Amino acid sequence: MPAEIITIASLKGGVGKTTTTYALAAAAAASGLSVVAIDLDPTGGLSNALEKAKRAVTIADVLHGRIGLRQALVEHPLGIRTVPGHRSLNHEPLHERQLRDVVEPVLDDADVILIDTHPHEPSLIGPMTVADRIVIPTALDLLSLRAAALSVGLAQELGVLHRIRGIVVSNAKRPLSRLTESLLYGLTANGLAFQTVLWFSSGWVAATSGKGEMPGPMLLEEAKRLLQELATRDVPVDALRQFIALAQGRRAASPVPA
Ligand SMILES: Nc1ncnc2c1ncn2[C@@H]1O[C@H](COP(=O)(O)OP(=O)(O)OP(=O)(O)O)[C@@H](O)[C@H]1O
Ligand SMILES: [Mg+2]
Repeated sequence: MPAEIITIASLKGGVGKTTTTYALAAAAAASGLSVVAIDLDPTGGLSNALEKAKRAVTIADVLHGRIGLRQALVEHPLGIRTVPGHRSLNHEPLHERQLRDVVEPVLDDADVILIDTHPHEPSLIGPMTVADRIVIPTALDLLSLRAAALSVGLAQELGVLHRIRGIVVSNAKRPLSRLTESLLYGLTANGLAFQTVLWFSSGWVAATSGKGEMPGPMLLEEAKRLLQELATRDVPVDALRQFIALAQGRRAASPVPA
């Protein structure tokens, strides 16, 4: 079976894309799966975390056909294969064809290909259209939720709404305030959000901040639950459409210049 491509995407920065990608990569590797993690974030957060030795070859070389993905990959002790990000991706639109060509050489020898992304619409088109499953991380505040809904809207425009597997709540602090608790309840009750929350933990910060260590056992359990849910759940398309409408409604309600 060809590898399953999972894209972690949002139009907003700092909502937990890299943390979620790292969590899923660590969980998949710990479950004995062959994992390739592609870092399309120009600041290279994921590959910094997964790869200590700096190498000359980056994802920009792969995207521009100077080297194949298979040759560019470096093996991390956790068993995740990755390639360093590159800052030129800041300005570069990424197309579906380009991404398909990039992943093609490893489709048959990996179980999972995870794609971490840059929060910029032209950079999301290829990663979203090439994905078998799309995951959208969010924090529990109104701006982040609106960005999550706009990201779902982008998937709809690209014709890949049905590939969205859900919204992952990341970086939530316990105990939740009443407002965030009701937001979380609203998201999970209609099947939009995963049941698994990547709760705030300094362990995640340590694991994803450049050391590339395996998360501790509790974090790993959380990540494995998320991976399991991702493999088995469907999101009601109606709930996704309502979510988009909510963000568009807010936009429509903002003052229109005369
Ligand atoms: N579950 C978590 N526990 C602790 N910290 C978290 C968690 N999720 C996210 N964070 C923290 O929130 C910040 C943003 O997370 P992250 O880098 O994963 O977001 P991002 O969407 O990849 O951001 P960017 O758009 O800048 O690439 C980081 O400092 C990260 O350590
Ligand atoms: Mg990131």
